[in-house]
Amino acid sequence: MKTRILFVDDEPNVLSALRRMFHDMRGEWEMDFASDGPSGLAMIAEQPYDVVVADMRMPGMDGAMFLREAQVHNPGAIRIVLSGHSDRDMILQTVRPAHQFLQKPCQPAELKAVIARGLSLREVFLDDRVKNVVARLDRLPTVPRLYAALLDVLSKEDPSMREVSGLIAQDVGMSAGVLKLVNSAFFGLRVHVSSPAHAVNLLGLEVVKALVLGIGLFDRFDKEAFRDFDLEKLWSHCLGTARFARAIAETEAAQAATREHCYIAGLLHDVGKLVMATNFPERYQEVIRACQAGEGTILDMEHHIFGASHAEVGAYLLGLWGVEDEVVRAVYLHHEPGRDRRAGFSPLAAVHVANRLEHEMVILSPGYAINPLDELYLMASGLDARMPEWRAACQAVLDQPGRDED
Ligand SMILES: [Fe+2]
Ligand SMILES: [Fe+2]
Repeated sequence: MKTRILFVDDEPNVLSALRRMFHDMRGEWEMDFASDGPSGLAMIAEQPYDVVVADMRMPGMDGAMFLREAQVHNPGAIRIVLSGHSDRDMILQTVRPAHQFLQKPCQPAELKAVIARGLSLREVFLDDRVKNVVARLDRLPTVPRLYAALLDVLSKEDPSMREVSGLIAQDVGMSAGVLKLVNSAFFGLRVHVSSPAHAVNLLGLEVVKALVLGIGLFDRFDKEAFRDFDLEKLWSHCLGTARFARAIAETEAAQAATREHCYIAGLLHDVGKLVMATNFPERYQEVIRACQAGEGTILDMEHHIFGASHAEVGAYLLGLWGVEDEVVRAVYLHHEPGRDRRAGFSPLAAVHVANRLEHEMVILSPGYAINPLDELYLMASGLDARMPEWRAACQAVLDQPGRDED
């Protein structure tokens, strides 16, 4: 069956450009075009779509209003916003009904990729339980400004590394945070990293980008508002999980991109906890108390009290912020990998195991019920025999805090 896509834009030449751009996709896509929100909604009423792409600024019903209506009448569609450059902040902050956003003018390949990404993360984006939690967030966390700026530069065809390092260096607070972190024992680098350019060179751009996102999110957390939640411990657990996940990927001789995805997914796997604890401090406190009282694991209690887990909420937001699909998937299922049907090694497998081993080998909060390893999943993926080697690799990370980065 073809993928049904609706484009809504008030500028006739944008619509005809889209028509021309995607002429060659007619074999796979069934496309409709509407020149304003109300006629888009009328088309939705006739037959729902898989993907809805809307312009942000339109007279009368603007993109946000249109998408909000589309969310109600066509809940199964992936919603994408097309916007001008200056709208980005506004979109990140206010347009909850959008799953993805794209800047105008965009290249056909970019829009195709965003549509494909939305469809592949459908499961994450269209989970009602998760959406209900996200919809209730008072403060939808926005991505750090620098992260958004990095995405902008990187979306160019040939981004220059100098430009990227320059951007990071301009944000004095953030670059100090990145340098402090990469020079700390957590990273176990033998060399001293002296500048953002050096960090990008040594660690790779994707990893530095993830650090900017991680540091930005953790920094924004209001420690005063939530005293029972130990931010330092969570950050240290995330960094530890990232290193373990990468060490596991190395034993699999995984490609550089997969190793990076493992590291990034490890680093960001629990951001959902931050978001939930910040937005619902009292209810999250209940989750933690119930865990400490031995009533169940974090995941059980989150499901019980919120109806969705930190893994799902975190993945939803990371998906919205343009983090790679593989990373989003690994975060989404890190406590329930059995929901993934693919066999063989993946960042999901690495993060699931790394998270568990980090809790087991580095005990930060005694008495905290640890989520079990999903043995059935490991067997079904043909990975169970790898456990002893993975465990040894993680132990080696703990034993040798100083080692050269590859
Ligand atoms: Fe988790
Ligand atoms: Fe975790």
